[in-house]
Amino acid sequence: MKQKVLVCRSLFPAAIERLAEYFEIDYHDRDVPLVPADLAARLADKDGAITLLSDRIDSQSLAGATKLKALCNVAVGYNNLDLAAISRAGVIATNTPGVLDETTADTAWALLLASARRIVSADKWVRARQWQGWQFHDPWLGNDVHHATLGILGMGRIGQAVARRAAGFSMRVIYHNRNPLPVADEQACNAAWVDKKTLLSEVDFLVLLLPYSPDNHHCIGRDELALMKPQACLINVARGGIVDDDALIEALQKRKIAGAALDVFENEPVLDPRFFALDNVVLTPHIGSSTRATRLAMAMLAADNLIDALHGRRPPNLLNPEVWDARQSITKESAP
Ligand code: DGY
Repeated sequence: MKQKVLVCRSLFPAAIERLAEYFEIDYHDRDVPLVPADLAARLADKDGAITLLSDRIDSQSLAGATKLKALCNVAVGYNNLDLAAISRAGVIATNTPGVLDETTADTAWALLLASARRIVSADKWVRARQWQGWQFHDPWLGNDVHHATLGILGMGRIGQAVARRAAGFSMRVIYHNRNPLPVADEQACNAAWVDKKTLLSEVDFLVLLLPYSPDNHHCIGRDELALMKPQACLINVARGGIVDDDALIEALQKRKIAGAALDVFENEPVLDPRFFALDNVVLTPHIGSSTRATRLAMAMLAADNLIDALHGRRPPNLLNPEVWDARQSITKESAP
């Protein structure tokens, strides 16, 4: 008999076909999240599940899921998963690192350039038929990207992909991570480690690429924004909650920094309405990984993780290897 899996959202047909070769699928074939009670009820008789970043998995959703062995998230970020609760329940969890690095780095650059050169406001102005003719002192004087200082907070794979692109703009690249990268990796992206205070005070463009965790909640707040130069722009393609949106709105209103470009927000998709009145912020709806090829690769990788996990093979992107190891030793001990 096939094992049963829940797919929490509409995915690409190729991923569903791959899963259907191995499993009986309960498919929530809509592009909206399951409500929590529905999610918990549908997990109750499942061996595994494919989850998305909008599915909150915690002890409540797992309460009745006694057969569940694996949860495979279609995202690299996994702050939607209460990993401690999942591990306590003996369930393994996986994510989709690697396949979205270059696409997300492209998005960071699109936002950086749009913010520096005020592309979105200028487009709106042209559409509003405000343009009367070319002006030397036009309202769209922006900031140069070339030869500026790019700062990256959170220099993982995506941060390094962002940094590599800076060579084409002859930029100085600095970054902050808890630990500096190995020298060879720093050299590959021509970036230098600095402490957080130096990063904030020297950047022209600050790109945030940290994973969200309670430890870095509001790690960019009033004090950090106060260290930034008035011509600096902040770009967030990581997660809402890393930035204190209230403090950022105040900094943008008072022009303490020049601008921001945000793909993620606290409480998304409900945005603080004060954002809408600002002409120095670019707003996009969490589209960092949103190309056809990348979203397909993410879905296929999550499917592969689930197929491995439910067939006793260590999945490539394990988030809680201790649960896997514990399960393997139980299997060995119970072998005849
Ligand atoms: C991720 O994978 O964490 C992204 O935010 C999804 O686009």
